Amino acid sequence: MEKLFKNLKKEIYKLWEKNLVLSNFTKLPKDLIYNELQSNIIEPAKKLKTWKSNSAKTGKIHDIIRELIPYISWKQTYEEKDVGKSFLEKYGYFEFFGSTGHFLTKEMSLYVIFFDTNNFYTWHNHEADELYFVLSGSAKFESVGDKSEILTSMKTRFHKSFQPHSLTTYNEKCLSLVIWRDKLKSSIQVVKK
Ligand SMILES: [Fe+2]
Repeated sequence: MEKLFKNLKKEIYKLWEKNLVLSNFTKLPKDLIYNELQSNIIEPAKKLKTWKSNSAKTGKIHDIIRELIPYISWKQTYEEKDVGKSFLEKYGYFEFFGSTGHFLTKEMSLYVIFFDTNNFYTWHNHEADELYFVLSGSAKFESVGDKSEILTSMKTRFHKSFQPHSLTTYNEKCLSLVIWRDKLKSSIQVVKK
């Protein structure tokens, strides 16, 4: 399985080489160490399993993630009291690069996050600067002080330190990369808008 994780890493490096928004946000470390994590399957990941990407540019990454589903250490982090039961039934993420990820680094964090259709990721913030990069599907991104917008494959959205933001899916699922470049240990607070 290590090979498939390394293939995903390779494709992400290729994406960085071709995409200035990603490479200007943060560099990818050269010294990532493969970390054998215990897999943790969650129900929502099964919805990702049956979803074929329609994006030519990110389809390969999407397909490797689908293949990796049973071997990934999926997380949810939030508690039902903060985000509601239906949110947790339609969401999941994993840390790919980071201090506890499938590849270890202390320089940045890269997560992969999945939302099923008709889901609302409530308003929250954190100290770390954040960049979303949509791999497949679409979602509406809202953040305080910025115009809301629907993002599709290859589009990015920046959230500055402590800027409250939320995400909504409608009739499409959404698979995204989420990158943090500093304050990697900052906690996420659910906030009232
Ligand atoms: Fe965020």
